[in-house]
Amino acid sequence: MTFITFEGIEGSGKTTQIKLLMAWLQTRTERALLTREPGGTAIGEQVRAILLNPDNTEMTPEAEILLFSAARAQIVREVIRPRLEEGWIVICDRFADSTLAYQGYGHGLPLDDLLQITEFATGGLWPDLTIYLDLDVETGLRRKAATPEEWNRMEAQAIDFHKRVRAGYLALAKQNPDRWLVIDADQPVEAIQAQIRARVEGLLG
Ligand code: TMP
Repeated sequence: MTFITFEGIEGSGKTTQIKLLMAWLQTRTERALLTREPGGTAIGEQVRAILLNPDNTEMTPEAEILLFSAARAQIVREVIRPRLEEGWIVICDRFADSTLAYQGYGHGLPLDDLLQITEFATGGLWPDLTIYLDLDVETGLRRKAATPEEWNRMEAQAIDFHKRVRAGYLALAKQNPDRWLVIDADQPVEAIQAQIRARVEGLLG
């Protein structure tokens, strides 16, 4: 059982890299599952719709973190844990570290509170490996602006917010270097994918 998460700011290329990794994993095993946060379950997708609705401008950061956590509590118990227990490799597009980076470092909610809420939501499940695609905020947002995007509510945040998120990710990675693989995302797609596969291959043995 191996639980791998991907993290990064908007436009860091997570989706592209995850797709390539999944295609490669599927040549090696039939037991690889891709899922995403928030979402990945019927309940989680409904919560996602609330979170991304651009009309919900009055949503407080506290309400936001509880909604993210509700979706997470559901996916952990309904999908992630059962699959891990059956020996699957589970890849998740964002997980608890997104909450620490966005709601904690980005919005300034106390990290201790967020950790407590997150531990409750996940039942203490943390990834075996977190792949963080690091990119400067201007490049990320420029890339993102070029593609159609559903997360208008989140992306409307000021550039300083995204800079705090990035700094937060780097701080989290530094605190836990064994779990985090930090990759410079300003490289060709294939070069990034090669680094990801090398690490995942090592992990799978
Ligand atoms: P994505 O499609 O890039 O994964 O977008 C998800 C958005 O939700 C992104 O702006 C990050 C944000 N987010 C949080 O703020 N906190 C969280 O816990 C999660 C999972 C995502």
